[in-house]
Amino acid sequence: MRILLIADIHANFVALSAIQESFDACLFLGDAVEYGTDSAPCLDWIRGHATAVVRGNHDHSTAQRVQSQGASPLRRLAAATRAINERVLTASHRKFLSQMPLTRSLELDGQKFFLVHATPRDPMDEYLPEDAHAWQQRLSFIEADFVCVGHTHKPMQLDLGQTQVINPGSVGQPRNGVPEAHYAIIEQGKVSFRTVPYDISRAVEQMREAGLEESLIELSEHLLRTGGSLPASV
Ligand SMILES: [Fe+2]
Repeated sequence: MRILLIADIHANFVALSAIQESFDACLFLGDAVEYGTDSAPCLDWIRGHATAVVRGNHDHSTAQRVQSQGASPLRRLAAATRAINERVLTASHRKFLSQMPLTRSLELDGQKFFLVHATPRDPMDEYLPEDAHAWQQRLSFIEADFVCVGHTHKPMQLDLGQTQVINPGSVGQPRNGVPEAHYAIIEQGKVSFRTVPYDISRAVEQMREAGLEESLIELSEHLLRTGGSLPASV
């Protein structure tokens, strides 16, 4: 069985469309929306293809119309794209976002999977680095062969003995310096991390067509072209 892991699409449908893999099951690890502006086709793709999903902090913010606090560049970008979501998402999209679970446990191909966007301690928001001891603590009562996460936008494979913690990296807004769409494949218990280039110019143009303000388009383009660096001017 071939299992596709994707996370942190962030409304970048050009990046999502570049992933041309066959799969028997697809696990989506949260953050379909915000930062980018092409939310509706990303949600439609997930609804049509994902075997299981969990809710990311940005899915929650859009579903619940959460007001952003603070003025950091990423918060400004999230708030502006959330406002665009308001215009482009249907009631059915919002219902889907509202009902995404915080965690999911399932068995595939004889192996136990536990899905959460961030960590079991704080399912949507905790940023936990690649620290075996800290992950061991968070996973004390979780029995799984694979714990699949997103949120940091950086690929990770942590071997904790009985359990492997896998972060496939971000489809639509990587922060590991590699400006491509990231994902992972699990087949016969073996994990492979992959990236695929996509048309960043087209993704940026889509933001312009959606009406995102020019300073935030420049910020997004810098983030996408550098694989996650903030420009010196912000
Ligand atoms: Fe994210």
